[in-house]
Amino acid sequence: MQQKQNNLTMFILILSGLGMIAFSQYLVGQVIVLGIGLGALMYTHRYMHDKFRVELENEKKIVKDKASTKTEDAMSKLNAIIEAIPSALVYINERGEFEVANRKFNAILNIDAINVYDSDIEGSLRQILLDAFLNEKQFIRQQKFEDVDYQVLAVPMLKNNRYDGCMIIMQDVTRLVDGERMQQRFIADASHELKTPIASIKGMIEIINRDDFNDDQTLEEFLAQIQIESSRLETIVDDLLLQSKLTADKVHLEKTEFNLKQFFDGLIYEKRRELHQSNIEVVLNCPSDVTIEADHFRLNQVFTNLFNNAINYAKGGRIKIDCDISRDKWNIQFKDNGAGMDEAVLPHVFERFYRGDESRGRENGSSGLGLAISKSIIEAHGGSIDVESTVGKGTNFKIKLKS
Ligand SMILES: Nc1ncnc2c1ncn2[C@@H]1O[C@H](COP(=O)(O)OP(=O)(O)O)[C@@H](O)[C@H]1O
Ligand SMILES: [Mg+2]
Repeated sequence: MQQKQNNLTMFILILSGLGMIAFSQYLVGQVIVLGIGLGALMYTHRYMHDKFRVELENEKKIVKDKASTKTEDAMSKLNAIIEAIPSALVYINERGEFEVANRKFNAILNIDAINVYDSDIEGSLRQILLDAFLNEKQFIRQQKFEDVDYQVLAVPMLKNNRYDGCMIIMQDVTRLVDGERMQQRFIADASHELKTPIASIKGMIEIINRDDFNDDQTLEEFLAQIQIESSRLETIVDDLLLQSKLTADKVHLEKTEFNLKQFFDGLIYEKRRELHQSNIEVVLNCPSDVTIEADHFRLNQVFTNLFNNAINYAKGGRIKIDCDISRDKWNIQFKDNGAGMDEAVLPHVFERFYRGDESRGRENGSSGLGLAISKSIIEAHGGSIDVESTVGKGTNFKIKLKS
């Protein structure tokens, strides 16, 4: 539209210029009029030229402005992405300068270095940056730096087929690595636990199988021992399976509503013989009219384990169970007044395979998994279990469960 108007104006001006020249034929002072005509033409040319130039420049500016707004948008999006990625990122240009770096990278760098050559950069980090920058090769490497395990990815960048620096992404993989380490430790511990009874069973069978073996009394003892060791093996395998299922969230809880006091009464009845033999009296403080929603079988495993522990380690005295509800939670305290535990061991009692006294644990056929399993069961219910203990005074397991 604008263009059409301009063309029309130019056309009219040219016409009037030419008209002036033609008109000059009939007028006095042709030269003067011709001059005016030419002047009009020249003015038209200049006028149009200027006008076009201004318009062209305006349009150019608009296009340029649009392009620069788009570039700014793209840049701010790119920056937001670079900041949002959950890893440290740096682009080192061909001169070795940190041209683009996100906050996570700057936090790792921790100093105001501007290039990879800065000798103040921590040694192992500097080595990674230099390797990536100087080798011009892509690599993935695991590197520990200030107690954090990083997966480092280095990617060389090319511009017109020439090396243009490199990009480095450092991802914190500490949790993964810890998980792997824990798994390895678990396998090592589990194998060790299983090996002990297997070795002892194997040894006894070897002796029994000797041609010259004919001692009936030893045979009887060995058979009894083999039975103990194999049931120990069974306990360990069962506990291991349960524990690994619980940690993998594969155990389905069969929740039902039941009366907590009746639950404890039943458990105390089940344990009455062992409690009597160990001369332990049980005091139960639990309101009789309130229920709990939980997996009865699994909760039974937890408290059976606490009873067994009190019988095995507290030795004598009294077990006191207190239950009360506050803020929709059952607070259950399972206390004994036995041997207690040193403060230093308390953080470990819920760890898999932790046994305060290796030899006594082996004697009573425990796997060292009891409290680890109990914790997993309580946590699977959305609850928590903690321990307080004083040497010579006793131990208190505090359990919180939704009512
Ligand atoms: N009531 C308690 N009194 C003293 N020590 C205890 C008590 N309960 C647990 N412990 C300590 O915690 C350790 C871990 O218990 P647990 O996980 O049940 O494994 P385990 O019974 O197989 O040894 C025990 O070996 C023991 O040293
Ligand atoms: Mg135990």
